Amino acid sequence: MKKKLLFIGPPGAGKGTQANLFCAKYGLDHLSTGDLLRDEVSSGSVLGIQASEVMNKGELVSDELVLSIVEGRLLNIKEGWLLDGFPRNVNQANSLSKLLEKINQPLEAVISINVADDDLIKRLLARGRDDDNEEVIANRLKIYNEKTSPLIDLYRQQGILVGIDGNADIDVVFSCIEKALG
Ligand code: AP5
Repeated sequence: MKKKLLFIGPPGAGKGTQANLFCAKYGLDHLSTGDLLRDEVSSGSVLGIQASEVMNKGELVSDELVLSIVEGRLLNIKEGWLLDGFPRNVNQANSLSKLLEKINQPLEAVISINVADDDLIKRLLARGRDDDNEEVIANRLKIYNEKTSPLIDLYRQQGILVGIDGNADIDVVFSCIEKALG
């Protein structure tokens, strides 16, 4: 089973759901920049307050902040890791690739989870997180299409991309991911 992974996909695609299941079963460290940023927000720190303003608009938090969070975590993982929600633009992808080169842990596979926009919106509205309202979801989708989706081609060119249909039940999607990474 591959153990240095990235899950990519639009908001609501099921990255976090699938990453939690996968990491629990295979003992990987789950690095979700969204979760780490929400922890920072809950701590009430100055950085958290600044981040929450950006997150509640559906914009991307600064690359510097996200990179410092990821770098600190990745340097301390021995077994395997799963990146969820990072990288989200070309600059973050380039920084990640330099960092992975430095620690000699190349990315082994990128799982791209695909779900139709209408279904994404329904899922997110049903969940109701602070950034799950129609206006902010529309902006998150726009930013995903503009800034994050170009990374799919980048990883396809590297020969490590696997596309997964995320429209099925959670356990069915999970089996497809396991099969792709086995
Ligand atoms: P982040 O937390 O990463 O949010 P996101 O990418 O918008 O993703 P979501 O968590 O909404 O969706 P998901 O794909 O993980 O789906 P999930 O499993 O939760 O980022 C939030 C914000 O933080 C960003 O907008 C940005 O401001 C900031 N940020 C984060 N990373 C950053 C970075 N690298 N750089 C800069 N800024 C950054 O599922 C969603 C719902 O669907 C759940 O209710 C779930 O139960 C349900 N569901 C899942 N799978 C299925 C299924 N198969 N069928 C039916 N329902 C399902």
